Amino acid sequence: NAITNSRFTLTPSDPQLQAIIAESAQAGIHYQCNNAMSLFGKLKAAKALPNGVKSRGDVATTVLSNLDTSDFQGGETTFEVPAIAGTGFINIRVTSHVLAQRVHQMMREGVSVLAPSKYYGKRVVIDFSSPNVAKEMHVGHLRSTIIGDTLARTLEFCGVDLVRLNHIGDWGTQFGMLIEYMSDVAKSGSAEGLDPDSERVADLQVMYRAAKKRFDDDEDFKTRARVAVTKLQGGDPDSIRRWQRICDASRREFQAIYDRLGVQLVERGESFYNPMLAGVVEELQKLGVAKESDGAMCVFVEGREDPLIIRKSDGGYGYGTTDMAALKHRLNVEKAEWIIYVTDVGQASHFDLVFAAGRKAKWLPQDETQSPRVSHVGFGLVLGEDGKKFKTRSGDVVRLVELLDEAKDRCAATIQEYRGATVQTEDQPAPETTGASVSFTPAELDHAAGAMGYGAVKYADLKNSRLSNYRFSFDSMLSLKGDTAVYLLYAHARIASIFRKTDRDVPALAKVTVPILAHPREFELALHLCRFTEAIENLLEDLMPNRLTSYLYDLSEKFNLFYQDCRVIGSGEYEESRLVLCEATAVVMRKCFHLLGITELYKI
Ligand code: ARG
Repeated sequence: NAITNSRFTLTPSDPQLQAIIAESAQAGIHYQCNNAMSLFGKLKAAKALPNGVKSRGDVATTVLSNLDTSDFQGGETTFEVPAIAGTGFINIRVTSHVLAQRVHQMMREGVSVLAPSKYYGKRVVIDFSSPNVAKEMHVGHLRSTIIGDTLARTLEFCGVDLVRLNHIGDWGTQFGMLIEYMSDVAKSGSAEGLDPDSERVADLQVMYRAAKKRFDDDEDFKTRARVAVTKLQGGDPDSIRRWQRICDASRREFQAIYDRLGVQLVERGESFYNPMLAGVVEELQKLGVAKESDGAMCVFVEGREDPLIIRKSDGGYGYGTTDMAALKHRLNVEKAEWIIYVTDVGQASHFDLVFAAGRKAKWLPQDETQSPRVSHVGFGLVLGEDGKKFKTRSGDVVRLVELLDEAKDRCAATIQEYRGATVQTEDQPAPETTGASVSFTPAELDHAAGAMGYGAVKYADLKNSRLSNYRFSFDSMLSLKGDTAVYLLYAHARIASIFRKTDRDVPALAKVTVPILAHPREFELALHLCRFTEAIENLLEDLMPNRLTSYLYDLSEKFNLFYQDCRVIGSGEYEESRLVLCEATAVVMRKCFHLLGITELYKI
């Protein structure tokens, strides 16, 4: 138990601990059980130190002597006999035998053998992207889409039975204003941003702004807009038709983004829960969970002064009501064992309230670690290069389609520029696929530019710790050097180019060849390949996609070291084995790309 609870939990920011990590890495230590120290402290405080245990080292020795060491004996073992180091660290080394077998198994049976089994078959709902109808889908929604999609892909890779929900803001008081504005425009015949007679709403943002202005300036309009909301909620066919048109127009815009990014979502907007709202409020009232306060129906939870308002004093329902109805539906109808919500951190407090209200109603277990679980995945802001609010040079909101276009165009230019030249960087080897020998058809160029451009935008987002704000910079995300998707795509294409130098069928070879891990670089590469499982576990543990981006970057580094020190083509008895290691690296890289929503390239 001591071992299994002992992940390597040193915080890398502490210089002293960092030194320990560096030292262990140098000594070739793969795992370290470091809780003999804390165990000693606890036992001492509880006056429960066993006889003869006087130091941390003694605790470590006791742990070690109680380990089932059957696996450490004999020839073909998983671990080498552990050693105690320092004041009581138990150092563990994996054997090359087990690594070679594991790599071989992965090549034979597929990379999914490396997926952690813990999540297999679980029913999970993930709520992400979730933009608002008639409003601009902004960079915040882009983050939600990118982060949510990676979490979703990772869960699917682990065999989760997943429902990807787009909780679109398609209901609420703003529709009264929009519908009323549409009918004003239709009457006056002037098309301010929309064409009322066709089935198209030309420019929703323009219309939204104009409607909002009229709403703020014109009391009569305000009153009419309020009436329009009631009509819509009452199911008036004309209102429903206009509402539908507005939603359709937005939907087309959202879909254009999802298509480019390769993101799949099931639309289940706020309006879906509309028929359930009254019942949910009634239920919470009956359960004694909700009570009236200042005319509004509220759920008060422990430790918070502000309640979750589930019915406003004017009788209307809001964001909180919908989220309670959605929670109930996801639990009872979707049978979710885990619900994940991806929004900016600004909504953390809203979700805390919703989750606490769910526990108060006993829809959710009191123990947060028990199933069904709920998690809010918050993220920080996207800032401009100047560290201020992200906007265009003229100060407008950045349109996502334009942003993606620019990323792609820049990549197309880069590829064309480099195709004739050799890409040379100081610390990272030049991709061998570049140079005059690689030629592209226009379709190939378009494909490669899209893969690089969209991949770069995604990777630059995912590699940050999601809670922090980050600066959006095309220059740094499209850099050929360093921790970027472009660099990693090159690294992959470079491996593909190695295979072009041999007549062998490398994938077939990889199915029948157990790699030889004789050189330390081969060993380190194989160890890192096998640690893919840990990267996935870590990602799902704290729902941090950057666990996977740093794993991928490290993999490319380990591969570089291997490739630098171990000749592959023409290495005689090692050639087959090394080709297999190249193939295994390419396979794991591609799986990482896939989980990050990046399209791999075989030549750039
Ligand atoms: N539409 C919301 C927004 O743009 C996000 C919705 C998130 N999901 C939810 N169940 N509340 O802020």
